Amino acid sequence: MAAIWGRHSRRSVAGRSTSEGGPAVSEAVRIGLLGRGTVGAAFFELVGERADAVEAATGRRPEVAGVLRRSEGDFDEILAGSDVVVELIGGTDPAREYVLRALRDGKHVVSANKQLIAQHGDELFEAARDAGVQFRFEAAVAGVIPVIRVIQESLAATEVSKVFGIVNGTTNFILTEMAKTGASYSDALGRAQELGYAEADPSDDVGGADAAAKMAILARLAFHTPVSLDDVTFEGIENVQPDDLAYAKEFGLSLKLLGVAERHAGGISVRVFPCFLYRGHPLAPVEGPFNAVMVEAPSITEITMSGPGAGGIETASAVLGDVVSIVAGRSPVHAVRERLEVVRDVDSAFYLHLEVADRPGVLAGITAVLGENEVSVKSVVQWGLGDDARLVMVMHEGAERRFEAALEAIATLDFLRSPPRAIRVIEEEFV
Ligand SMILES: NC(=O)c1ccc[n+]([C@@H]2O[C@H](COP(=O)([O-])OP(=O)(O)OC[C@H]3O[C@@H](n4cnc5c(N)ncnc54)[C@H](OP(=O)(O)O)[C@@H]3O)[C@@H](O)[C@H]2O)c1
Repeated sequence: MAAIWGRHSRRSVAGRSTSEGGPAVSEAVRIGLLGRGTVGAAFFELVGERADAVEAATGRRPEVAGVLRRSEGDFDEILAGSDVVVELIGGTDPAREYVLRALRDGKHVVSANKQLIAQHGDELFEAARDAGVQFRFEAAVAGVIPVIRVIQESLAATEVSKVFGIVNGTTNFILTEMAKTGASYSDALGRAQELGYAEADPSDDVGGADAAAKMAILARLAFHTPVSLDDVTFEGIENVQPDDLAYAKEFGLSLKLLGVAERHAGGISVRVFPCFLYRGHPLAPVEGPFNAVMVEAPSITEITMSGPGAGGIETASAVLGDVVSIVAGRSPVHAVRERLEVVRDVDSAFYLHLEVADRPGVLAGITAVLGENEVSVKSVVQWGLGDDARLVMVMHEGAERRFEAALEAIATLDFLRSPPRAIRVIEEEFV
């Protein structure tokens, strides 16, 4: 194969070369593929299937020049024979070392690895910047939905105020299954595993860590500030009960695991939490393993993007899209413009579920605790359960810190029959 990099062109894969005296010939873009598992194998196939289309669009024909697996390939040889390195190993070790070495060697890198970027983003972006190469990772967040491209390119000059959405398909499938069938959390998780929507060890997904890594990446890009996994507060869906879904159904609400990154006067907050949404919210109808991300800014009002959040072929398609962007010479810039503080004390509205003894003074006791903590009640519904009663209360929006203090005090009241359960509520109206 012809060497396509001169001293001054080594870092660019855009362009078309000519063979001396003859017609224009398309030179290959040599891809070093690290990992050939679910996504890597789909990507390998896709490169073969779409090579003509990529060549027609960019003038360059992609080819997989080498594959690294645990049982196959040598990283140094693959690096030496590649123009673009595609990392589809996952995890941080050895992916971090391989990606850093590729970037420092002047190779463009595409990765689908959210953990790697959320945990080591600063050094990876710096290495890419120092080497003058591209580091792209569209598939790391929300699968095939081009949310990274939209934030980094279409909205590059926009002051984003909030980016939020459903960024984990496993939990969205489980919550949808619970809502539709009345299944318990563990039965819905079992169904997700049967259908391949949840892994054998689902803890990163159901505990919110996967969504937290994706939100760290989105917040970093949207707000042009360093954000790492430690800056994200997160909780998962393991404690959601069929009762909570029954309540949601009765009041026309949807329960979703949301990632929310927003600007505040004193900085930004980045959080992941289960949350009730009112009917009419653009994220309410997003069901099953689908993802959806909304971006808000004064100049754009709001946009919503939705689509499959995972899957071998879908993810591979996003990875190939990044390779095409590199070949076409489009270069997104991630620059830190300012270092924003992470604000942890934010305002939220809450739903509160209490099982209590059905006797006089109970409601007064609860509202007294809420009042002492300056938490104001919006609505209360009570159901009789024999000698006990179920109270479902919705609070007005207020400081989370005050609600948490009230919850701690309520948990100690002697008429409580089980620990209180609280879930955030987003009351925003969309018309
Ligand atoms: N699966 C999805 O739907 C999806 C969606 C979005 C993003 N992603 C991301 O895409 C990446 C790949 O996911 P996947 O589901 O394709 O993973 P996977 O099926 O587990 O495949 C991992 C591949 O990496 C190779 N590998 C693992 N450790 C290695 C090592 N030490 N040295 C060399 N090769 C090694 C494995 O080699 P062997 O073949 O020898 O075992 C395998 O080929 C991850 O970052 C994941 O988060 C996946």
